[in-house]
Amino acid sequence: MRSPQRPLIDSIDTTGTAAVRIDELRVLHGEFVDFMLDYKFAIDEITTKFNILREDLHNANEYNPIEHINSRLKSPESVLEKVQRKKYPMSLASIRENVLDIAGVRVVCSFISDIANVRDMIAGQEDITVVDERDYITNRKPNGYQSLHLIVSIPVFRVDRTVRVPVEIQIRTIAMDFWASLEHKIYYKYRGEVPPNLLSELTQAAEAANQLDEKMESLHRLVDHNGERDST
Ligand code: GTP
Ligand code: MG
Repeated sequence: MRSPQRPLIDSIDTTGTAAVRIDELRVLHGEFVDFMLDYKFAIDEITTKFNILREDLHNANEYNPIEHINSRLKSPESVLEKVQRKKYPMSLASIRENVLDIAGVRVVCSFISDIANVRDMIAGQEDITVVDERDYITNRKPNGYQSLHLIVSIPVFRVDRTVRVPVEIQIRTIAMDFWASLEHKIYYKYRGEVPPNLLSELTQAAEAANQLDEKMESLHRLVDHNGERDST
């Protein structure tokens, strides 16, 4: 059984023989791999929850607000890089407490109004706790980025213990997602130093994406209301 409080690096006995140090490194490596598995399982749990919601709605012939779902597990290198960059203590307990985006799930919806519905469907589940919520749709980022971010914690049932694991859930529309993927690519291509003219074009593109979202939302409502009238 691992001890999450033990520092990851400081516990290596630098006064011992090389063989002892390699043994200790092997143990640390094993503990870290096992720790990362918590997050892989948490992604599996959250993804299953969204898939159940989709199938349940489909089965009930109800409208399905989820267009598609992606997930990603942060690489061990990125986790350790973030701990160093943010100067968090280098222990498993500190990583669990501070690095809340090791497990990431992105839910893409068709319409703006779907986002709140998807949020409520997941946040309302008994085993889910919402730890943090950032609404970048109401409060768009200055570059134009829009998305609803939730940090939730979910229990993961391991063979010998139950652990609560944080998962970052990003919920956004297709248009918001389209914009964010391109912005991300451009940001990486220029290593964060994006030329000002490109930045302003990106902000204009975000505005266009937002106008498309609003237009689609109003058409969707129109069709929905007509549908209700037709069926009466
Ligand atoms: P990190 O420490 O970088 O994870 O950010 P944070 O803890 O301040 O959280 P924030 O809510 O700002 O961002 C979390 C995640 O949202 C990022 O890792 C990206 O996936 C996404 N994100 C946030 N801002 C932007 C943005 O301007 N452009 C794009 N493409 N993605 C963004
Ligand atoms: Mg992040």
